Amino acid sequence: MQNPYVPIPVEVAKIITEVDTKDIKTFRLAFVNKKDEENFTYMPGQFAELSVFGKGESPIGIASSPTQKGYLEFTVQKAGVVTTALHEMEEGTRMGVRGPLGNSWPIEFLEGKNIVVVGGGFAFTTLRSLINYLLHADNRARFGTITCIYGARTPGLLIYKDELEAWGKRDDIDLTVTVDNGDTTWKGKEGFVPTICKEVAPRSENAVTVICGPPIMIRFTLPVFFDLGFSKDNIITSLEMRMKCGIGKCGRCNVGSKYVCKDGPVFSLAELDKLTKEY
Ligand SMILES: Cc1cc2nc3c(=O)[nH]c(=O)nc-3n(C[C@H](O)[C@H](O)[C@H](O)COP(=O)(O)OP(=O)(O)OC[C@H]3O[C@@H](n4cnc5c(N)ncnc54)[C@H](O)[C@@H]3O)c2cc1C
Ligand code: FES
Repeated sequence: MQNPYVPIPVEVAKIITEVDTKDIKTFRLAFVNKKDEENFTYMPGQFAELSVFGKGESPIGIASSPTQKGYLEFTVQKAGVVTTALHEMEEGTRMGVRGPLGNSWPIEFLEGKNIVVVGGGFAFTTLRSLINYLLHADNRARFGTITCIYGARTPGLLIYKDELEAWGKRDDIDLTVTVDNGDTTWKGKEGFVPTICKEVAPRSENAVTVICGPPIMIRFTLPVFFDLGFSKDNIITSLEMRMKCGIGKCGRCNVGSKYVCKDGPVFSLAELDKLTKEY
């Protein structure tokens, strides 16, 4: 059995600067060994520990979809020691990945349902993985309608712009992109995510919403979904806690009786209600 603390060797194959402030980049990582690539089976919503030699590790959500073969993608905001070292890397650099870790978005639960994806800022990463998974030709027929509402503070802070454009042209996903403050070039919607959710007003019958974003966005978005008739079982989110081991051993990330790294990071609001209010 492989030692879960030993990172898998990968190489930075591509770096994409996502935002005009240049502090959010997507890293495409290619496996050094074919066997590691075959063994790394994951689902949307899972995360991995990215390991920069001599600096340390950081938990980061997997932004690629398992339907994309041959590489993993992670979108990382520059925050401190490890993420700054990542941002200074060049294509061709070797680093490590530990994972996949945690649970995933509940794909089986979503089957046959209408899905409403709500994202804010760069917390859109594992939602992007989910959308690409749902839209894949092998999977699309298993799910009902897909509605996506995604917002950022400014047009320059929207991530995955090419993909947003491509999704906008499809007729099997209803996408609304919004910014808090537009500029002279912005032709899309302006308004906070909760306001736009109210405007779009997705129906709650046979529907599940999957929400990820800054805490303030989530705080104001939840009442909108309650008013629309979504129950706490049908509102799913992902928690970001401080983590160390990522495998339920060190006790750094517990919320009540649960380890966010192992039992989460994905929980329904109904599940979170049963835990203590530490999150
Ligand atoms: C499950 C999970 C998924 C995540 N996914 C992403 C992602 O897709 N993209 C991304 O950019 N970030 C993501 N994060 C947050 C990311 O792990 C932290 O920003 C990163 O570990 C900071 O490491 P550092 O060494 O650069 O910063 P440090 O030098 O350790 O700290 C710098 C600053 O960041 C704060 N910080 C450190 N860790 C966290 C944390 N876990 N949550 C909030 N603040 C923190 C510190 O308080 C400090 O202010 C995720 C976190 C978790 C737990
Ligand atoms: S990070 Fe160690 S138990 Fe969760």
